[in-house]
Amino acid sequence: MSWKKSAELMDTIRHYSKFPATGVSLRQMVQFGERPSVGTLFRASQFLSEELPIRLAHRVQELSDLPDGLNDMPSIKRVQDWYAQSFEEITTLQKPSLSAEIRERLLKPAKQAGRNSRVLSETTQNPSVPRGQYRSQLSTGNGSENGDNKKVTATRRYFSGADDNGEWPPELNDYNTRFASTLDVIKRRHDSVVTTIAQGILEYKRKRQRMQIDHNIQAFLDRFYMSRIGIRMLIGQHIALTDQRTHSDPNYVGIICTKTNVRDLAQEAIENARFVCEDHYGLFDAPKVQLVCNPDLHFMYVPGHLSHMLFETLKNSLRAVVETHGQDKEEFPVTKVVVAEGKEDITIKISDEGGGIPRSSIPLVWTYMYTTVDQTPTLDPDFNKSDFKAPMAGFGYGLPISRLYARYFGGDLKLISMEGYGTDVYLHLNRLSSSSEPLQ
Ligand SMILES: Nc1ncnc2c1ncn2[C@@H]1O[C@H](COP(=O)(O)OP(=O)(O)O)[C@@H](O)[C@H]1O
Ligand SMILES: [Mg+2]
Repeated sequence: MSWKKSAELMDTIRHYSKFPATGVSLRQMVQFGERPSVGTLFRASQFLSEELPIRLAHRVQELSDLPDGLNDMPSIKRVQDWYAQSFEEITTLQKPSLSAEIRERLLKPAKQAGRNSRVLSETTQNPSVPRGQYRSQLSTGNGSENGDNKKVTATRRYFSGADDNGEWPPELNDYNTRFASTLDVIKRRHDSVVTTIAQGILEYKRKRQRMQIDHNIQAFLDRFYMSRIGIRMLIGQHIALTDQRTHSDPNYVGIICTKTNVRDLAQEAIENARFVCEDHYGLFDAPKVQLVCNPDLHFMYVPGHLSHMLFETLKNSLRAVVETHGQDKEEFPVTKVVVAEGKEDITIKISDEGGGIPRSSIPLVWTYMYTTVDQTPTLDPDFNKSDFKAPMAGFGYGLPISRLYARYFGGDLKLISMEGYGTDVYLHLNRLSSSSEPLQ
């Protein structure tokens, strides 16, 4: 708790914040394969040791530029300090001292990279993002430097296989381990960022007597949380890749599952949501959910993200069903989950008969802090380790955050309602997975 930012650190942060972030795609993240070598991991850590400070610096800057005194709220300042401290820890991490020969070998690309990997590793425009909306660059893949792709200007690469002919010195492995444990400390430090920012917004609303948050703050929160998803993805991925040297599962590359089974995950989310619903309303049996899904359907995704989105939308549906039909009903209308498999997208539709949402309230469901729960549960920054997961409802973060997760990998989340009847939520998941992270 004794950490203090220096003026010098803040200057460095300002400098870094002038560089654009480099978007990475799901494809590039899986190219590391089952067992990345010490050299390949080291190269990834070199990319991250530049990329993460840039992304952290943007957030520090943005927090201090928040309008209307929001930047002065104690919780906002607290989060800003976390970002600054993490920036400092990454940028001051001692680099290994390497011989000239090893340094040269680290610069050489691996010989492999067949035709397919070249095609797959190029990052494309994220389809859920209008062109020009984000100023981040697209990261180049292995081998796309042969001039045929003029759009791609980034020079830094995330994945690049190292020349693994020969031993790597122990210093390299030591560095990889130190780098991963630094990331681990950072990831934990930022666990309660969402709750703490939410707290900061509450402080602001109270101080300024505001009922709603305006468009600017909404846009800021979208950017901020999207950036957080990206940073945590890269950090989580790198920690898992580092651990993978000792224990690996053939279906996983880091935290990405190359064979994410949609039905199993949906089934689990249904059970969890029903359990939370029973617990919350004191029901013996929560409303039923019917799942229509090909049992063999699998695709490459981050299971944790998909579980989060399904759990949040299912809780909303169950709550709407219970509250519209009354807690003491014996039978509730069944909520239906249908999974469709297309070439481009896997789409999951969650249809409930929970009475729907008035058309005038639809835009509000996408705003943070909008909830129709009367009493928002108390915010406990320590209890919640991941984004408002546990409670039934009440923070108004379920839908907007789920939509960010969907968009992060080029998908989307849409909601269509029939007031007086029910709501359909469409969760589109992009299968092509070459699209770049939408960053700003
Ligand atoms: N399936 C649904 N049926 C009816 N209303 C819904 C549904 N999903 C969401 N809503 C409305 O949108 C609001 C915001 O949802 P969400 O972002 O998940 O926050 P929370 O569940 O914490 O209130 C809910 O409070 C509810 O009023
Ligand atoms: Mg909810």
